[in-house]
Amino acid sequence: MNIQGKTASEIFECVRSMIQARQLRAGDSLPPVRELAVALGVNRNTVASAYRRLVTSGIAFTQGRLGTIIRDPWRGGEQEGAAAETPLVDLADGNPNPAWLPDLGAALGARPYQPRLYGAPTVNPTLESHVRRWFAPDCPTPFEVDLTHGAVDAIERLLALELMAGDPVAVETPCFLSSINLLRNARLRALGVPVDGEGMQVEALEAALAQGARAVILTPRAHNPTGCSLSGKRARALSRVLARHPNVLVIVDDHFSLLSKHDYHSVLPRNAGRWALVRSFSKLLGPDIRVAAVASDASSARQLRQRLAPGTNWVSHLLQDVVEAAVTDPDNIRLLEGARADYVRRRQALEAALLAEGIACAGDGDGLNLWVPMPAGDREAAQALARVGWLVRHGDAFALGAPAGGLRITTARIEPEQCRRLAADLARILA
Ligand SMILES: Cc1ncc(COP(=O)(O)O)c(C=O)c1O
Repeated sequence: MNIQGKTASEIFECVRSMIQARQLRAGDSLPPVRELAVALGVNRNTVASAYRRLVTSGIAFTQGRLGTIIRDPWRGGEQEGAAAETPLVDLADGNPNPAWLPDLGAALGARPYQPRLYGAPTVNPTLESHVRRWFAPDCPTPFEVDLTHGAVDAIERLLALELMAGDPVAVETPCFLSSINLLRNARLRALGVPVDGEGMQVEALEAALAQGARAVILTPRAHNPTGCSLSGKRARALSRVLARHPNVLVIVDDHFSLLSKHDYHSVLPRNAGRWALVRSFSKLLGPDIRVAAVASDASSARQLRQRLAPGTNWVSHLLQDVVEAAVTDPDNIRLLEGARADYVRRRQALEAALLAEGIACAGDGDGLNLWVPMPAGDREAAQALARVGWLVRHGDAFALGAPAGGLRITTARIEPEQCRRLAADLARILA
């Protein structure tokens, strides 16, 4: 391997050029630091610094004794969504139940369309006042309202404004698949903060902040995949920790919001300097709507607008009109209440069926997924379930650092008879 250079920067650039020229490929190991330093006649620290920069830029990663390895830039992580044409019963997709999604065609036709031109206000004023009333009790300071193309888009844009490649970000582990993917794509370093039945663990968040986390992404309700929600006590304890770090950007991803069976408990301290509360409409109106509402402090909002507004990138008023019509319509509000109760019922049916077979789930879960903790053997259990017709996800996909042993089962559409069969099959496999 013909790596050249006398400075860290030259070595770094040389490796990049070799990747572009396909002289180095994904999976190739770079020479050990000591060996390359001798070959180039430079100090070991020079090579170590070049390798560190390759890692923080996302070009390479380190893997214990295997050393520094070139990363595959095209290797995407797992995504939410249905497995196309699978013969299995798909309990892995994380989707809402289409039966509970409002008729957006009707919502679209409910009001006359007014053309809006370049330069028009980017947020529909009526939708903005609706969001303001909804978010106000949950925001720590005066706030601004913006719309993005879904929660993941909001999180990505907010992080892109504040952080640089290699910066650490505290996120829950196990973690929502899209958050793992977006951090990887943005070349940010995920610091996994374990969750328990009440949400992020306080000492672990403290440790991540002590390690220099510049942002925190936190799910207050219906954590994906475990289903846990913050208790009031836990939210207050986390808030006290965050109050000691007012300059860390805190992004609260309340994705299940109006559908949640739990109250919202805020972790945002009064002195929060950079914060955003993100509420997606994906679960309420369907993931295809691609709209989320974002409340944030004034400077985050100003930056977010620069990323959204310059001429081309606002959320279409066509979509905004649909959202406004759908969320203010009394029939849809009744539908929402039905959906909330039905999601609870289906999840409880599976919980009860599993418990009857002696299998315990994560307690008091919420959301579209049920988490069955499994300290070991979750991958094998998922494979064995696939052999008898069930598609579920095992913990590997959601893990950051330590393995997240468990099975994530999407319960949004599960029927009582399926609950009984699935529980019996899983019990047989575990026995
Ligand atoms: C934790 C979490 N955040 C956000 C979302 C929704 O993201 P988006 O609004 O981009 O569709 C989901 C969907 O499953 C989720 O589980």
